[in-house]
Amino acid sequence: MKQIGVGILGFGTVGAGVADGLLKHRDVMAKRLDVDIALKRIADLDITTDRGVAVPEGVLTTDASSVIADPDVRIVVETIGGTGIAKKLVLDALNAKKCVVTANKKLLAEHGREIFDAAAANGVDIYFGASVGGGIPIIRVLREGLAGNEIESIHGILNGTCNYILTRMENEGLPFDVVLKDAQRLGYAEADPSLDIDGFDTAHKACILTALAYGFQPTLDQVQVEGIRNLSGTDVRYAADFGYRIKLLAVVARDGDEVEVGVHPTLIPFSHMLANVNDAFNAAMVKGDMSDYTMYYGRGAGRQPTASTVVGDIGDIARNLAHGETRYVRGAPCYAEGNVRLRAAGDIFSKSYVRFMVADRPGAFGLIATILGKHCVSISAATQKESGESGFVPVVALMHRAKASALEAALAEIKASGVVSEDPIRLRMI
Ligand code: HSE
Repeated sequence: MKQIGVGILGFGTVGAGVADGLLKHRDVMAKRLDVDIALKRIADLDITTDRGVAVPEGVLTTDASSVIADPDVRIVVETIGGTGIAKKLVLDALNAKKCVVTANKKLLAEHGREIFDAAAANGVDIYFGASVGGGIPIIRVLREGLAGNEIESIHGILNGTCNYILTRMENEGLPFDVVLKDAQRLGYAEADPSLDIDGFDTAHKACILTALAYGFQPTLDQVQVEGIRNLSGTDVRYAADFGYRIKLLAVVARDGDEVEVGVHPTLIPFSHMLANVNDAFNAAMVKGDMSDYTMYYGRGAGRQPTASTVVGDIGDIARNLAHGETRYVRGAPCYAEGNVRLRAAGDIFSKSYVRFMVADRPGAFGLIATILGKHCVSISAATQKESGESGFVPVVALMHRAKASALEAALAEIKASGVVSEDPIRLRMI
């Protein structure tokens, strides 16, 4: 049986999980894949902290370049994260004609093209299965299982930290900060948790899925991104009154030759499968023109689930290398130009939830309905709570599908009319 050597760059949460998985499952992987995958080297600046993995003598080093240069290392695993040194080392590894496995969504979302071009130029593979969905092999699904489909839409809960926070806030009424600390302790959150809670981690993943589905990758500044930092418990409760749960949802959906890409806290009916994805779990619902709806569910964050997908990628590459092949680099580049373009934010249609603080006087609600109607926005349901001391009452209205620019214009006119005391809160719905 041929042996393929692996080097890991970054011995943190995920890197340690990968090392553990490779050491623990070496024999079973050899039987399944007909290749002996040997963990040869691990580089990290800190090689003294105990990571709970019994690493063989001589494997650990502080010198990442020596791992890349090691002739026994054919596959380089990047589990450092970020776009600084991780980018340099990934490019160094590709240019040294090593295959690369990374879980680094930020790196691929921001520099994917450069990295994929470097892989192709050097005739080596880059796998990135764990960059979206943690333990769910959704990337493999899009690259292989659904390769014969036109992808019509992808709806995803793609950030374990946000889903964990939303679930516990909803179920236990706990404050945001307390739950965020628990998510960090459990190893779900990014080093900079604003990437999670402000929606950018989900957006990075949506950009990668867009590239796989449609052959072009939007940049983060082209995508509408809203996080959960400012989501109020009031809206979580009102949404529940209407039969909806709020989730941070990534949408990648095609309509003709345009693709909508966005990340928003979104009301999802209780009966919808995505509304029942809780805690740190992730899910992606993909609609293909042939497959119809398919759904993928699993742990989207954490050491073991993420490492599971990284180890799966390593296994695939090792098997291919043992048989003298590369899998994706020839014939299936991720960034093949597609014939679709990004839809402008204002042109996106969706149903909406809007909460107004409305002056408690005759005709106020009527004025709001009139302005909405003028902009072709139609109310599908509404509820008004009893008046408080302030003279303003919360009115929550659900809107039928409407164009974003029309709803925005209506809300601006309502605000300017003086009939509301504060900016209306608008959330999307599916
Ligand atoms: N911080 C990410 C999350 C890790 O919470 O989902 C997995 O990408």
